[in-house]
Amino acid sequence: MIIQPRTRGFICLTAHPEGTAAHIKQQIDYVKSKGKIANGPKKVLVIGASTGFGIASRITAAFGSDAATIGVFFEKPASEGKLGTAGWYNSAAFENEAHAAGLYAKSINGDAFSDEIKKQTIELIKKDLGQVDLVVYSLASPRRTHPKTGVQYASVLKPIDQPFTDKTVDFHTGVVSDITINPVENQEDIDNTVAVMGGEDWKFWIEDLKAAGVLADGVKTVAYSYIGPELTYPIYRNGTIGRAKDDLEATVPALNELLSDIDGVSYVSVNKALVTQSSSAIPVVPLYISLLYKVMKEKGIHEGTIEQMQRLFAERLYTGSAPALDEKGRIRVDDLEMRDDVQQAVAELWKQTTTENLENISDIKGYRDDFFNLFGFNFDQIDYEKDTNEVVPVPSIE
Ligand code: NAI
Ligand code: NA
Repeated sequence: MIIQPRTRGFICLTAHPEGTAAHIKQQIDYVKSKGKIANGPKKVLVIGASTGFGIASRITAAFGSDAATIGVFFEKPASEGKLGTAGWYNSAAFENEAHAAGLYAKSINGDAFSDEIKKQTIELIKKDLGQVDLVVYSLASPRRTHPKTGVQYASVLKPIDQPFTDKTVDFHTGVVSDITINPVENQEDIDNTVAVMGGEDWKFWIEDLKAAGVLADGVKTVAYSYIGPELTYPIYRNGTIGRAKDDLEATVPALNELLSDIDGVSYVSVNKALVTQSSSAIPVVPLYISLLYKVMKEKGIHEGTIEQMQRLFAERLYTGSAPALDEKGRIRVDDLEMRDDVQQAVAELWKQTTTENLENISDIKGYRDDFFNLFGFNFDQIDYEKDTNEVVPVPSIE
């Protein structure tokens, strides 16, 4: 099959197996170039393991400290004549590389919010690893079916008190325009978003894993959050998704309590704004990211998901002592993004940005490259005119 990018809105409908494999290889090479992480994790469960920060966490654990990994995700498999999703190809490529390096790696494809997938994961841990010493929680989803009640929740991306108007960009066309997003109509919009992206499912996972005895003494668990600049507060941190992040962060004390008798600890890490399938769906954010990339690249402090996760593991989670936390008890790897000089430069550019000057003022090119890279496109070493097999050998995705 000849596989080319095909987009609808902010979604890319196709994914290139060899291109995604190149993307995985690039991330593995980066982690290897940084050397081994002393006293890193050994047996790791990653929930949301197929794309974005989740696959970067899995790669860092495996290739940074030789960890055995189990990955849970929700992706569409490839079959004859039908493409799989990028996360499917990512996971196949990851498993192939891990196995070639002599590392244990198995994956479970299904709804992580369900009791059934939790049970299946626990059985696999018991059978193959006994216990895990790190649980990474990196789910991002627009909906969740509650496992106890069957109620289906859909998250929304809305401001809370008043309409929000600001610039946004269509990153495919480069058109910058004003967008107005109306606030939530009722408390339900907020509650639904918290039900999907808040901390309840993380808690359910840790409760079930603990009750099954599959968490090792001294286990760590980490989930990911975002704060960002004031200009995105109305749509992000002070919006519905921000309420969900408040809820996620507020889960930490409860998990620490739950894990205290096995000397376990839970963290939320606040990460940098980066191009992922989830973040490209948030209005205003892609323009912010394009300007942020421009400024951070000029200052020589740009990082992608793999650089962020390698730094999280090597310089925060596994330094041999407890990581520094902010006033709200969070790990910060968004420290470079939030630096005053970076934020001032972005705010200055933000005011000036128009459709006409976008290509010069911002790193929209870098944004697009990263976006297409997520689906295995825009890699120089791949010939996209060439016939390629859409079905790839997958060692152990259940
Ligand atoms: P992503 O969209 O790249 O990854 C989401 C992962 O969740 C994928 O592996 C997907 O298969 C999995 N998933 C979704 N629904 C599932 C389900 N029902 N069952 C099993 N797996 C499911 O997203 P990204 O951006 O890596 O987000 C991960 C976390 O990082 C989120 O909590 C997000 O809010 C946070 N974060 C993201 C930032 C960004 O700029 N992208 C910045 C800071 C934090
Ligand atoms: Na992820």
